[in-house]
Amino acid sequence: TPRLAVLASGRGSNLQAILDAIGDGRLDARVAGVFGDRPKALALERARDAGIPARGLRPRDFASRQDYDAALFAAIAAVEPDLIVCAGYMRLLGAAAIEPWQGRIINIHPSLLPAFKGLDTHARALEAGVAEHGASLHYVTADLDGGPVIAQARVAVHHGDDADALAARVLAVEHPLMLATLQLLCAGRVNLRDTRVELDGQPLQAPLQL
Ligand code: GAR
Repeated sequence: TPRLAVLASGRGSNLQAILDAIGDGRLDARVAGVFGDRPKALALERARDAGIPARGLRPRDFASRQDYDAALFAAIAAVEPDLIVCAGYMRLLGAAAIEPWQGRIINIHPSLLPAFKGLDTHARALEAGVAEHGASLHYVTADLDGGPVIAQARVAVHHGDDADALAARVLAVEHPLMLATLQLLCAGRVNLRDTRVELDGQPLQAPLQL
């Protein structure tokens, strides 16, 4: 059974979706630990409620971002994960920390990448007047929100949407997107080869639409 380490900064609804899916047998995986940059985050509380080791490290307790990343990834490595899942982790990860985990670290991002990398994606999508928005599951590389995309889920932008309404519509598709992608990853069907995503040993021509 694949071991997951989850990184989260806040609410943890994606983490909860993973825990629920494991709990009722839809996902064959185990969450070995949950980690974050805010010790009081709801995500860490959800983990502890589920009996999972949770660790919050405060960046300001470290001399540099490199030191913080090193401590964070040492804690993660200690639970021996097969896959690291960034699920609402809101800090930049340094290249040195990510490098040893290439191909074994993924992130969910609330936009149809490569559109709207970075923060405030929903407000920026509304500003840009796009008709479609959504979420992407991608491999993490040193290029922020720029790693190879595995899968996406789309929603329509409605007339009169504000950022909160749009965020809620996207979040509703993030949870099934996370689950479907983890099912493929945990079954060993999706892999990163060099810079390309493979499904069942064949290069993916475009992100899966889930
Ligand atoms: C999700 O919408 C996720 O896509 C986004 O934060 C939210 C976390 O929600 N992630 C990012 O913006 C990463 N830059 P959750 O804590 O309820 O899972």
